[in-house]
Amino acid sequence: MSRVYVFDHPLIQHKLTHIRDKNTGTKEFRELVEEVAMLMAYEITRDLPLEEVEIETPVAPAKAKVLAGKKLGLIPILRAGLGMVDGILRLIPAAKVGHIGLYRDPETLQPVEYYIKLPTDIDERELIVIDPMLATGGSAAAALAALKKRGARSLKLMCLIAAPEGIARVQEEHPDVDIYAAAVDERLNEKGYIVPGLGDAGDRLFGTK
Ligand code: URA
Repeated sequence: MSRVYVFDHPLIQHKLTHIRDKNTGTKEFRELVEEVAMLMAYEITRDLPLEEVEIETPVAPAKAKVLAGKKLGLIPILRAGLGMVDGILRLIPAAKVGHIGLYRDPETLQPVEYYIKLPTDIDERELIVIDPMLATGGSAAAALAALKKRGARSLKLMCLIAAPEGIARVQEEHPDVDIYAAAVDERLNEKGYIVPGLGDAGDRLFGTK
């Protein structure tokens, strides 16, 4: 069973409250999402392996640590996932970025891929799939399956807000994928929105509503 990590860092919680607030406008919303993504990336990368190198400081030779070269990839699910990418890249500028676009077939209600472009070596990368609102979990589960089908072996799922329904679905379909969120909310409403949530993340990020 995959684990769920909820980041209770005061800065993340403070910023998330402003993100949720309906009076927060597009510019501020976008900036805050980026900042929270950066803070979450700091926590998510806590287990990256280090190796020792030898350097010389201005004072003396020293053995010091650097990242052991584990290759990372960010995979935002279009379109709301895009809002978190730049914040993460501020901390991990060398990460490659792939994109997945999915829509829900109106008849089967199943997610259908309409766009996918990935780094060529996803089998060698630790991938962070970005889905800011884990609602039913349908898109996230489909995106994870699409990546596994193409060779992905190490996956994490990063969300701003997760609903219990989405967590349950991802855990059932992808027990190997840990979930990282800034909050786990109460439930979904009849329209599939997370309650209390923050509304439509894509519309609020891009000012389309
Ligand atoms: N997607 C959103 O943007 N918001 C929700 O509450 C659920 C899905």
